[in-house]
Amino acid sequence: MRSLRNRLALMFFAITFVAIAVLYLYVAPGLQTRLINEKLNALSAAAARYSASISATVGNSDLPPVVRLRVDTAALASGNRVALLSVAQTRAGPQLSPQQDSSNKAAAEPLSYPVAVTAAKTAQPATGLEMTAAGQIAEAAYPVPYQGHVGAVIVFSDPVADIAHSVAIVRHDILVAGGLALLVALIGGYLVARALSQRVKRLEHAAEQVAGGDFDHPIAVDSPDELGQLAVAFNEMQHRLAQLESARKQFIATASHELRTPIFSLGGFVELLEDDDLDPETRRRFLDQVRGQVERLRKLSVDLLDLSKLESGSLELRPEQVDIGELTRSVSAEFEPGLAQHDAHLELRLTARSADMLCDPVRVAQIMRILLDNALTHTPTGTRIVVTAGREDGRVRLAVRDDGDGIDRAALSRIFEPFYTSDDAQGSGLGLAIASELAERMAGHLYVESGPGRTTFTLELPA
Ligand SMILES: Nc1ncnc2c1ncn2[C@@H]1O[C@H](COP(=O)(O)OP(=O)(O)OP(=O)(O)O)[C@@H](O)[C@H]1O
Ligand SMILES: [Mg+2]
Repeated sequence: MRSLRNRLALMFFAITFVAIAVLYLYVAPGLQTRLINEKLNALSAAAARYSASISATVGNSDLPPVVRLRVDTAALASGNRVALLSVAQTRAGPQLSPQQDSSNKAAAEPLSYPVAVTAAKTAQPATGLEMTAAGQIAEAAYPVPYQGHVGAVIVFSDPVADIAHSVAIVRHDILVAGGLALLVALIGGYLVARALSQRVKRLEHAAEQVAGGDFDHPIAVDSPDELGQLAVAFNEMQHRLAQLESARKQFIATASHELRTPIFSLGGFVELLEDDDLDPETRRRFLDQVRGQVERLRKLSVDLLDLSKLESGSLELRPEQVDIGELTRSVSAEFEPGLAQHDAHLELRLTARSADMLCDPVRVAQIMRILLDNALTHTPTGTRIVVTAGREDGRVRLAVRDDGDGIDRAALSRIFEPFYTSDDAQGSGLGLAIASELAERMAGHLYVESGPGRTTFTLELPA
Protein backbone atom coordinates (compact mmCIF):
# COMPACT_ATOMS: atom_id res chain seq x y z
CA MET A 1 0.00 0.00 0.00
CA ARG A 2 2.98 2.26 0.46
CA SER A 3 4.00 2.16 -3.18
CA LEU A 4 3.03 5.03 -5.45
CA ARG A 5 1.79 2.48 -7.99
CA ASN A 6 -0.76 0.89 -5.65
CA ARG A 7 -1.89 4.17 -4.23
CA LEU A 8 -2.46 5.69 -7.67
CA ALA A 9 -4.37 2.60 -8.87
CA LEU A 10 -6.48 2.68 -5.72
CA MET A 11 -7.15 6.37 -6.16
CA PHE A 12 -8.42 5.81 -9.74
CA PHE A 13 -10.63 3.05 -8.39
CA ALA A 14 -11.95 5.19 -5.53
CA ILE A 15 -12.76 8.15 -7.80
CA THR A 16 -14.66 5.92 -10.23
CA PHE A 17 -16.44 4.23 -7.34
CA VAL A 18 -17.58 7.53 -5.85
CA ALA A 19 -18.79 8.74 -9.28
CA ILE A 20 -20.86 5.58 -9.76
CA ALA A 21 -22.23 5.65 -6.21
CA VAL A 22 -23.38 9.26 -6.76
CA LEU A 23 -25.05 8.22 -10.04
CA TYR A 24 -26.76 5.27 -8.40
CA LEU A 25 -27.81 6.80 -5.09
CA TYR A 26 -28.54 10.37 -6.11
CA VAL A 27 -29.17 10.71 -9.83
CA ALA A 28 -31.40 7.62 -10.29
CA PRO A 29 -33.90 8.37 -7.44
CA GLY A 30 -33.92 12.01 -8.51
CA LEU A 31 -34.78 10.88 -12.01
CA GLN A 32 -37.78 8.93 -10.68
CA THR A 33 -39.09 11.92 -8.72
CA ARG A 34 -38.64 14.20 -11.74
CA LEU A 35 -40.46 11.80 -14.06
CA ILE A 36 -43.38 11.38 -11.62
CA ASN A 37 -43.65 15.16 -11.22
CA GLU A 38 -43.68 15.50 -14.98
CA LYS A 39 -46.47 12.93 -15.20
CA LEU A 40 -48.50 14.79 -12.53
CA ASN A 41 -48.00 18.07 -14.43
CA ALA A 42 -49.10 16.42 -17.67
CA LEU A 43 -52.19 14.99 -15.90
CA SER A 44 -53.18 18.34 -14.44
CA ALA A 45 -52.66 20.00 -17.85
CA ALA A 46 -54.89 17.32 -19.43
CA ALA A 47 -57.47 17.80 -16.67
CA ALA A 48 -57.59 21.54 -17.29
CA ARG A 49 -57.83 20.98 -21.02
CA TYR A 50 -60.38 18.18 -21.35
CA SER A 51 -62.66 18.79 -18.36
CA ALA A 52 -64.80 21.54 -19.88
CA SER A 53 -67.27 19.30 -21.77
CA ILE A 54 -67.73 17.04 -18.71
CA SER A 55 -68.13 20.05 -16.38
CA ALA A 56 -71.00 21.27 -18.59
CA THR A 57 -73.07 18.19 -17.66
CA VAL A 58 -72.84 18.86 -13.89
CA GLY A 59 -76.19 20.08 -12.56
CA ASN A 60 -77.86 19.45 -15.93
CA SER A 61 -80.27 16.68 -16.63
CA ASP A 62 -78.12 15.00 -19.23
CA LEU A 63 -78.72 11.31 -19.60
CA PRO A 64 -75.97 9.04 -18.20
CA PRO A 65 -74.97 7.72 -21.68
CA VAL A 66 -74.31 11.31 -22.80
CA VAL A 67 -72.14 11.96 -19.74
CA ARG A 68 -70.43 8.61 -20.25
CA LEU A 69 -69.65 9.56 -23.86
CA ARG A 70 -68.07 12.82 -22.80
CA VAL A 71 -65.98 11.05 -20.14
CA ASP A 72 -64.83 8.46 -22.69
CA THR A 73 -64.03 11.15 -25.25
CA ALA A 74 -61.86 13.01 -22.68
CA ALA A 75 -60.14 9.72 -21.74
CA LEU A 76 -59.45 8.94 -25.39
CA ALA A 77 -58.15 12.42 -26.12
CA SER A 78 -55.86 12.59 -23.07
CA GLY A 79 -54.86 8.92 -22.99
CA ASN A 80 -55.67 8.76 -19.25
CA ARG A 81 -58.32 7.07 -17.16
CA VAL A 82 -61.02 9.69 -16.45
CA ALA A 83 -63.59 9.49 -13.66
CA LEU A 84 -66.42 11.80 -12.70
CA LEU A 85 -67.28 11.92 -8.99
CA SER A 86 -70.29 13.74 -7.67
CA VAL A 87 -69.89 15.69 -4.43
CA ALA A 88 -72.54 15.87 -1.75
CA GLN A 89 -71.83 18.51 0.90
CA THR A 90 -72.59 17.03 4.34
CA ARG A 91 -71.77 18.12 7.84
CA ALA A 92 -68.84 15.75 8.00
CA GLY A 93 -67.47 17.36 4.83
CA PRO A 94 -67.86 16.60 1.17
CA GLN A 95 -68.95 13.02 0.32
CA LEU A 96 -67.78 11.73 -3.05
CA SER A 97 -69.45 9.06 -5.10
CA PRO A 98 -68.31 7.84 -8.50
CA GLN A 99 -70.67 8.68 -11.34
CA GLN A 100 -68.77 7.71 -14.43
CA ASP A 101 -65.43 5.97 -15.11
CA SER A 102 -63.80 5.69 -18.53
CA SER A 103 -62.30 2.29 -17.70
CA ASN A 104 -64.02 -1.05 -17.67
CA LYS A 105 -65.36 -1.36 -14.13
CA ALA A 106 -64.81 -5.09 -13.82
CA ALA A 107 -61.16 -4.99 -14.96
CA ALA A 108 -60.03 -1.69 -13.54
CA GLU A 109 -58.47 -1.21 -10.16
CA PRO A 110 -60.96 0.34 -7.71
CA LEU A 111 -59.59 3.76 -6.73
CA SER A 112 -60.42 5.85 -3.65
CA TYR A 113 -59.18 9.14 -5.16
CA PRO A 114 -57.69 10.92 -2.11
CA VAL A 115 -56.81 13.92 -4.36
CA ALA A 116 -60.47 14.28 -5.28
CA VAL A 117 -61.32 14.81 -1.59
CA THR A 118 -58.60 17.50 -1.37
CA ALA A 119 -59.93 19.19 -4.52
CA ALA A 120 -63.50 19.04 -3.18
CA LYS A 121 -62.44 20.55 0.14
CA THR A 122 -60.21 23.30 -1.26
CA ALA A 123 -62.11 23.91 -4.52
CA GLN A 124 -58.67 23.99 -6.19
CA PRO A 125 -57.16 21.52 -8.67
CA ALA A 126 -55.01 18.96 -6.85
CA THR A 127 -52.46 16.28 -7.84
CA GLY A 128 -51.14 13.30 -5.92
CA LEU A 129 -50.30 9.62 -5.83
CA GLU A 130 -52.47 6.74 -4.75
CA MET A 131 -51.06 3.37 -3.72
CA THR A 132 -52.92 0.32 -5.04
CA ALA A 133 -52.21 -3.40 -5.13
CA ALA A 134 -51.07 -2.98 -8.76
CA GLY A 135 -48.66 -0.12 -7.95
CA GLN A 136 -48.77 3.64 -7.67
CA ILE A 137 -51.30 5.71 -9.60
CA ALA A 138 -50.78 9.38 -10.42
CA GLU A 139 -53.93 11.46 -10.17
CA ALA A 140 -55.00 15.01 -11.02
CA ALA A 141 -58.36 16.21 -9.66
CA TYR A 142 -60.31 19.06 -11.23
CA PRO A 143 -63.15 20.51 -9.11
CA VAL A 144 -66.33 21.61 -10.91
CA PRO A 145 -68.15 24.48 -9.12
CA TYR A 146 -71.89 24.27 -8.86
CA GLN A 147 -74.15 26.69 -7.01
CA GLY A 148 -71.41 28.22 -4.89
CA HIS A 149 -69.63 25.02 -3.91
CA VAL A 150 -67.89 22.06 -5.53
CA GLY A 151 -70.58 20.00 -7.25
CA ALA A 152 -68.35 17.36 -8.79
CA VAL A 153 -64.67 16.39 -9.24
CA ILE A 154 -63.17 15.06 -12.46
CA VAL A 155 -60.09 12.89 -11.87
CA PHE A 156 -57.52 12.07 -14.57
CA SER A 157 -55.28 9.16 -13.53
CA ASP A 158 -52.43 7.10 -14.93
CA PRO A 159 -50.29 4.35 -13.42
CA VAL A 160 -46.63 5.24 -12.70
CA ALA A 161 -45.44 1.64 -12.70
CA ASP A 162 -43.82 2.19 -16.12
CA ILE A 163 -41.70 5.04 -14.64
CA ALA A 164 -40.52 2.86 -11.75
CA HIS A 165 -39.73 0.13 -14.24
CA SER A 166 -37.70 2.46 -16.50
CA VAL A 167 -35.78 3.83 -13.52
CA ALA A 168 -35.04 0.30 -12.32
CA ILE A 169 -33.62 -0.48 -15.78
CA VAL A 170 -31.48 2.68 -15.63
CA ARG A 171 -30.21 1.70 -12.16
CA HIS A 172 -29.39 -1.76 -13.35
CA ASP A 173 -27.52 -0.34 -16.36
CA ILE A 174 -25.62 2.04 -14.06
CA LEU A 175 -24.55 -0.93 -11.94
CA VAL A 176 -23.38 -2.95 -14.95
CA ALA A 177 -21.59 -0.01 -16.61
CA GLY A 178 -20.20 1.03 -13.22
CA GLY A 179 -18.81 -2.44 -12.57
CA LEU A 180 -17.10 -2.38 -15.97
CA ALA A 181 -15.79 1.16 -15.37
CA LEU A 182 -14.40 0.11 -11.99
CA LEU A 183 -12.59 -2.80 -13.57
CA VAL A 184 -11.18 -0.57 -16.33
CA ALA A 185 -10.20 2.08 -13.72
CA LEU A 186 -8.43 -0.51 -11.59
CA ILE A 187 -6.52 -2.11 -14.46
CA GLY A 188 -5.92 1.17 -16.31
CA GLY A 189 -4.92 2.95 -13.11
CA TYR A 190 -2.56 0.14 -12.22
CA LEU A 191 -0.93 0.16 -15.68
CA VAL A 192 -0.55 3.97 -15.81
CA ALA A 193 0.75 4.02 -12.26
CA ARG A 194 3.17 1.20 -13.01
CA ALA A 195 4.55 3.05 -16.04
CA LEU A 196 4.95 6.21 -13.94
CA SER A 197 6.54 4.44 -11.04
CA GLN A 198 8.96 2.66 -13.38
CA ARG A 199 10.12 6.05 -14.62
CA VAL A 200 10.47 7.32 -11.04
CA LYS A 201 12.41 4.15 -10.18
CA ARG A 202 14.82 4.89 -13.04
CA LEU A 203 15.45 8.35 -11.56
CA GLU A 204 15.94 6.83 -8.12
CA HIS A 205 18.40 4.33 -9.53
CA ALA A 206 20.30 7.09 -11.34
CA ALA A 207 20.40 9.17 -8.14
CA GLU A 208 21.88 6.20 -6.30
CA GLN A 209 24.54 5.87 -9.00
CA VAL A 210 25.44 9.56 -8.67
CA ALA A 211 25.53 9.22 -4.89
CA GLY A 212 28.00 6.40 -5.43
CA GLY A 213 30.24 8.72 -7.48
CA ASP A 214 29.27 7.46 -10.97
CA PHE A 215 28.64 10.49 -13.19
CA ASP A 216 28.87 8.76 -16.57
CA HIS A 217 25.33 7.42 -17.07
CA PRO A 218 22.78 10.07 -18.04
CA ILE A 219 19.08 9.10 -17.92
CA ALA A 220 17.27 8.69 -21.26
CA VAL A 221 14.77 11.55 -21.67
CA ASP A 222 11.75 9.75 -23.14
CA SER A 223 9.06 12.43 -22.92
CA PRO A 224 8.70 16.19 -22.51
CA ASP A 225 6.39 15.92 -19.47
CA GLU A 226 7.26 16.82 -15.89
CA LEU A 227 9.19 13.60 -15.29
CA GLY A 228 11.04 14.16 -18.58
CA GLN A 229 11.96 17.66 -17.42
CA LEU A 230 13.10 16.24 -14.10
CA ALA A 231 15.33 13.83 -16.04
CA VAL A 232 16.79 16.75 -18.06
CA ALA A 233 17.46 18.68 -14.83
CA PHE A 234 18.95 15.56 -13.29
CA ASN A 235 21.30 15.04 -16.26
CA GLU A 236 22.34 18.69 -16.07
CA MET A 237 23.08 18.26 -12.35
CA GLN A 238 25.06 15.11 -13.08
CA HIS A 239 27.08 16.96 -15.71
CA ARG A 240 27.84 19.82 -13.30
CA LEU A 241 28.79 17.39 -10.54
CA ALA A 242 31.14 15.61 -12.95
CA GLN A 243 32.77 18.95 -13.78
CA LEU A 244 33.09 19.83 -10.09
CA GLU A 245 34.49 16.42 -9.31
CA SER A 246 37.11 16.69 -12.03
CA ALA A 247 37.98 20.26 -10.90
CA ARG A 248 38.37 18.97 -7.35
CA LYS A 249 40.67 16.15 -8.44
CA GLN A 250 42.66 18.56 -10.60
CA PHE A 251 42.94 20.96 -7.65
CA ILE A 252 44.23 18.30 -5.29
CA ALA A 253 46.71 16.98 -7.87
CA THR A 254 48.09 20.46 -8.56
CA ALA A 255 48.19 21.43 -4.90
CA SER A 256 50.14 18.32 -3.94
CA HIS A 257 52.51 18.85 -6.86
CA GLU A 258 53.06 22.48 -5.79
CA LEU A 259 53.77 21.33 -2.21
CA ARG A 260 56.06 18.49 -3.29
CA THR A 261 58.42 20.64 -5.37
CA PRO A 262 59.74 22.85 -2.53
CA ILE A 263 59.78 19.89 -0.11
CA PHE A 264 62.00 17.84 -2.46
CA SER A 265 64.19 20.85 -3.04
CA LEU A 266 64.53 21.38 0.75
CA GLY A 267 65.48 17.71 1.18
CA GLY A 268 68.22 18.12 -1.43
CA PHE A 269 69.66 21.22 0.24
CA VAL A 270 69.61 19.60 3.70
CA GLU A 271 71.69 16.70 2.29
CA LEU A 272 74.13 19.12 0.68
CA LEU A 273 74.45 21.11 3.91
CA GLU A 274 75.41 17.95 5.80
CA ASP A 275 78.73 18.02 3.94
CA ASP A 276 81.32 19.31 6.48
CA ASP A 277 83.77 20.41 3.76
CA LEU A 278 81.45 23.16 2.43
CA ASP A 279 83.05 26.57 2.29
CA PRO A 280 81.11 29.30 4.18
CA GLU A 281 80.21 31.13 0.99
CA THR A 282 78.46 28.08 -0.58
CA ARG A 283 76.84 27.21 2.74
CA ARG A 284 75.34 30.71 2.91
CA ARG A 285 74.06 30.41 -0.67
CA PHE A 286 72.44 27.04 0.14
CA LEU A 287 70.88 28.47 3.31
CA ASP A 288 69.47 31.34 1.23
CA GLN A 289 67.89 28.76 -1.08
CA VAL A 290 66.47 26.89 1.91
CA ARG A 291 65.02 30.15 3.25
CA GLY A 292 63.48 30.86 -0.17
CA GLN A 293 61.85 27.42 -0.36
CA VAL A 294 60.54 27.68 3.23
CA GLU A 295 59.08 31.09 2.39
CA ARG A 296 57.47 29.59 -0.73
CA LEU A 297 55.96 26.75 1.34
CA ARG A 298 54.69 29.19 3.95
CA LYS A 299 53.00 31.38 1.31
CA LEU A 300 51.54 28.33 -0.44
CA SER A 301 50.03 26.89 2.74
CA VAL A 302 48.55 30.28 3.76
CA ASP A 303 47.15 30.73 0.23
CA LEU A 304 45.64 27.23 0.12
CA LEU A 305 44.02 27.76 3.50
CA ASP A 306 42.58 31.12 2.41
CA LEU A 307 41.23 29.65 -0.81
CA SER A 308 39.63 26.70 0.92
CA LYS A 309 38.01 29.01 3.50
CA LEU A 310 36.71 31.24 0.72
CA GLU A 311 35.30 28.33 -1.24
CA SER A 312 33.63 26.75 1.79
CA GLY A 313 32.23 30.15 2.79
CA SER A 314 33.82 30.05 6.24
CA LEU A 315 36.05 33.11 5.79
CA GLU A 316 34.88 35.79 8.19
CA LEU A 317 35.05 39.45 7.29
CA ARG A 318 35.62 42.15 9.91
CA PRO A 319 34.32 45.34 8.32
CA GLU A 320 35.20 48.71 9.81
CA GLN A 321 35.31 52.34 8.70
CA VAL A 322 38.45 52.70 6.56
CA ASP A 323 40.07 55.62 4.74
CA ILE A 324 40.84 53.94 1.43
CA GLY A 325 43.52 56.56 0.52
CA GLU A 326 45.39 55.91 3.73
CA LEU A 327 45.15 52.15 3.24
CA THR A 328 46.52 52.40 -0.33
CA ARG A 329 49.41 54.57 0.84
CA SER A 330 50.46 52.20 3.61
CA VAL A 331 50.29 49.04 1.44
CA SER A 332 52.27 50.76 -1.33
CA ALA A 333 54.91 51.72 1.21
CA GLU A 334 55.47 48.03 2.03
CA PHE A 335 56.60 47.50 -1.57
CA GLU A 336 59.43 50.04 -1.52
CA PRO A 337 62.21 47.41 -1.24
CA GLY A 338 60.64 45.35 -4.05
CA LEU A 339 60.26 48.43 -6.24
CA ALA A 340 63.87 49.37 -5.70
CA GLN A 341 65.00 45.83 -6.59
CA HIS A 342 63.05 45.95 -9.87
CA ASP A 343 64.04 49.50 -10.60
CA ALA A 344 60.30 50.18 -10.82
CA HIS A 345 58.42 53.40 -10.12
CA LEU A 346 55.14 53.57 -8.27
CA GLU A 347 52.80 56.51 -8.58
CA LEU A 348 49.81 57.01 -6.27
CA ARG A 349 46.75 58.88 -7.52
CA LEU A 350 44.10 59.38 -4.90
CA THR A 351 41.18 61.08 -6.64
CA ALA A 352 38.77 61.33 -3.75
CA ARG A 353 39.49 63.82 -0.99
CA SER A 354 37.86 61.62 1.58
CA ALA A 355 36.98 58.08 0.56
CA ASP A 356 35.90 56.59 3.84
CA MET A 357 34.22 53.25 3.38
CA LEU A 358 33.05 50.26 5.35
CA CYS A 359 35.22 47.25 4.54
CA ASP A 360 37.60 44.70 6.01
CA PRO A 361 40.98 46.56 5.73
CA VAL A 362 42.99 43.34 6.12
CA ARG A 363 41.32 41.71 3.12
CA VAL A 364 41.39 44.84 0.93
CA ALA A 365 45.13 45.15 1.73
CA GLN A 366 45.57 41.45 0.83
CA ILE A 367 44.02 42.04 -2.62
CA MET A 368 46.21 45.11 -3.15
CA ARG A 369 49.36 43.16 -2.23
CA ILE A 370 48.44 40.41 -4.70
CA LEU A 371 47.95 43.00 -7.49
CA LEU A 372 51.12 44.95 -6.67
CA ASP A 373 53.13 41.73 -6.37
CA ASN A 374 51.93 40.70 -9.85
CA ALA A 375 52.71 44.14 -11.29
CA LEU A 376 56.28 43.64 -10.07
CA THR A 377 56.87 39.93 -10.76
CA HIS A 378 55.20 39.58 -14.17
CA THR A 379 56.71 42.69 -15.78
CA PRO A 380 60.20 43.59 -16.94
CA THR A 381 62.45 45.72 -14.70
CA GLY A 382 61.93 49.45 -14.84
CA THR A 383 58.18 49.19 -15.02
CA ARG A 384 55.99 52.11 -14.11
CA ILE A 385 53.10 51.25 -11.80
CA VAL A 386 50.15 53.58 -11.18
CA VAL A 387 47.80 52.98 -8.28
CA THR A 388 44.52 54.92 -8.28
CA ALA A 389 41.88 54.95 -5.60
CA GLY A 390 38.64 56.88 -5.51
CA ARG A 391 34.90 56.89 -5.31
CA GLU A 392 32.68 57.05 -8.38
CA ASP A 393 28.94 56.40 -8.97
CA GLY A 394 28.51 55.07 -5.45
CA ARG A 395 31.33 52.55 -5.89
CA VAL A 396 34.88 52.60 -4.62
CA ARG A 397 37.42 51.75 -7.31
CA LEU A 398 40.98 50.71 -6.62
CA ALA A 399 43.12 50.14 -9.71
CA VAL A 400 46.67 48.90 -10.20
CA ARG A 401 48.06 49.64 -13.66
CA ASP A 402 51.45 48.68 -15.07
CA ASP A 403 53.12 49.29 -18.42
CA GLY A 404 54.45 45.74 -18.77
CA ASP A 405 54.05 43.46 -21.80
CA GLY A 406 50.40 42.70 -21.05
CA ILE A 407 48.55 39.41 -20.86
CA ASP A 408 47.67 37.60 -24.07
CA ARG A 409 44.04 36.94 -25.01
CA ALA A 410 44.08 33.18 -24.36
CA ALA A 411 45.54 33.64 -20.88
CA LEU A 412 43.26 36.55 -20.01
CA SER A 413 40.21 34.36 -19.49
CA ARG A 414 42.09 31.92 -17.27
CA ILE A 415 44.24 34.02 -14.94
CA PHE A 416 41.58 33.95 -12.19
CA GLU A 417 41.61 30.13 -12.10
CA PRO A 418 43.52 28.57 -9.18
CA PHE A 419 47.08 27.43 -10.10
CA TYR A 420 46.98 29.11 -13.49
CA THR A 421 50.29 30.72 -14.41
CA SER A 422 51.18 31.89 -17.88
CA ASP A 423 54.83 32.84 -17.57
CA ASP A 424 58.06 31.56 -16.07
CA ALA A 425 57.84 33.54 -12.83
CA GLN A 426 57.96 31.18 -9.85
CA GLY A 427 54.42 31.83 -8.60
CA SER A 428 51.96 29.08 -7.85
CA GLY A 429 49.02 30.81 -9.56
CA LEU A 430 46.82 31.26 -6.48
CA GLY A 431 47.09 35.07 -6.09
CA LEU A 432 44.39 36.22 -8.51
CA ALA A 433 42.09 33.29 -7.64
CA ILE A 434 42.13 34.41 -4.00
CA ALA A 435 41.83 38.10 -4.90
CA SER A 436 38.77 37.60 -7.10
CA GLU A 437 37.05 35.25 -4.60
CA LEU A 438 37.72 37.84 -1.85
CA ALA A 439 36.25 40.62 -4.00
CA GLU A 440 33.08 38.57 -4.62
CA ARG A 441 32.89 37.77 -0.91
CA MET A 442 32.90 41.53 -0.19
CA ALA A 443 30.03 42.01 -2.70
CA GLY A 444 32.51 43.56 -5.12
CA HIS A 445 34.23 42.59 -8.33
CA LEU A 446 37.78 42.27 -9.66
CA TYR A 447 38.37 42.68 -13.37
CA VAL A 448 41.25 43.11 -15.76
CA GLU A 449 41.90 45.07 -18.95
CA SER A 450 45.13 44.29 -20.75
CA GLY A 451 46.94 45.17 -23.93
CA PRO A 452 50.60 45.54 -24.92
CA GLY A 453 52.19 48.08 -22.58
CA ARG A 454 49.19 48.45 -20.32
CA THR A 455 47.58 46.08 -17.84
CA THR A 456 44.99 47.33 -15.36
CA PHE A 457 43.43 45.33 -12.55
CA THR A 458 40.48 47.12 -10.96
CA LEU A 459 38.84 46.24 -7.68
CA GLU A 460 35.32 47.60 -7.40
CA LEU A 461 33.58 47.62 -4.01
CA PRO A 462 30.24 48.95 -2.83
CA ALA A 463 30.86 52.27 -1.06
N1 LIG B 1 50.26 42.57 -14.06
C1 LIG B 1 50.44 41.47 -14.80
N2 LIG B 1 51.08 41.52 -15.96
C2 LIG B 1 51.24 40.41 -16.73
N3 LIG B 1 50.78 39.20 -16.38
C3 LIG B 1 50.12 39.07 -15.23
C4 LIG B 1 49.92 40.20 -14.37
N4 LIG B 1 49.21 39.77 -13.28
C5 LIG B 1 49.01 38.45 -13.46
N5 LIG B 1 49.55 38.02 -14.60
C6 LIG B 1 49.50 36.65 -15.13
O1 LIG B 1 48.46 35.95 -14.46
C7 LIG B 1 48.95 34.75 -13.88
C8 LIG B 1 48.21 34.45 -12.62
O2 LIG B 1 48.53 35.38 -11.58
P1 LIG B 1 48.42 34.94 -10.08
O3 LIG B 1 48.72 36.12 -9.23
O4 LIG B 1 47.13 34.26 -9.90
O5 LIG B 1 49.54 33.84 -9.93
P2 LIG B 1 51.07 34.01 -9.80
O6 LIG B 1 51.42 35.44 -9.63
O7 LIG B 1 51.71 33.30 -10.96
O8 LIG B 1 51.38 33.20 -8.47
P3 LIG B 1 51.11 33.66 -6.97
O9 LIG B 1 50.48 35.00 -7.03
O10 LIG B 1 50.25 32.62 -6.39
O11 LIG B 1 52.48 33.71 -6.35
C9 LIG B 1 50.40 35.00 -13.68
O12 LIG B 1 51.13 33.77 -13.73
C10 LIG B 1 50.77 35.90 -14.85
O13 LIG B 1 51.08 35.12 -15.96
MG1 LIG C 1 50.58 36.63 -8.19
